[in-house]
Amino acid sequence: MSEINWPQLREAAIAAMQKSYSPYSNFAVGAAALTADGRVVSGCNIENASYGLTLCAECSLISDLLMGGGGKLVAFTCVDAQSNVLMPCGRCRQLLVEHAAPNMILETVSGFKTMAEVLPDAFTREELNG
Ligand code: THU
Repeated sequence: MSEINWPQLREAAIAAMQKSYSPYSNFAVGAAALTADGRVVSGCNIENASYGLTLCAECSLISDLLMGGGGKLVAFTCVDAQSNVLMPCGRCRQLLVEHAAPNMILETVSGFKTMAEVLPDAFTREELNG
């Protein structure tokens, strides 16, 4: 974990948060992650007049990951409009586990945690393969 530049990752999350489109909740969110090959990917929340169609910041982060060549995430952080660390919602933990390296670390409101700590006994593609 020492090789992860958390302040830089948080800055990327803050920059993403500043691009948030959240006119309905007025709750801007930004997320950033480091890939195993050293890229920083990020995303912001994107709301919609049809409220249920809202895309969390993690959704656009995963799009950024795939559009930039894919790969696995090794470190993740998420912030609100005050730049405070924010927990990914339950749905987004599921979204993240699919693209997380086995040792991925998340910055959380209660310290640095592994993916398994924030989403124990996750349902993954392993289950589909029997
Ligand atoms: N939100 C995220 O972007 N990520 C999360 O993990 C939690 C919630 C957004 C969705 C919505 O635009 C706003 O926060 C309020 O729920």
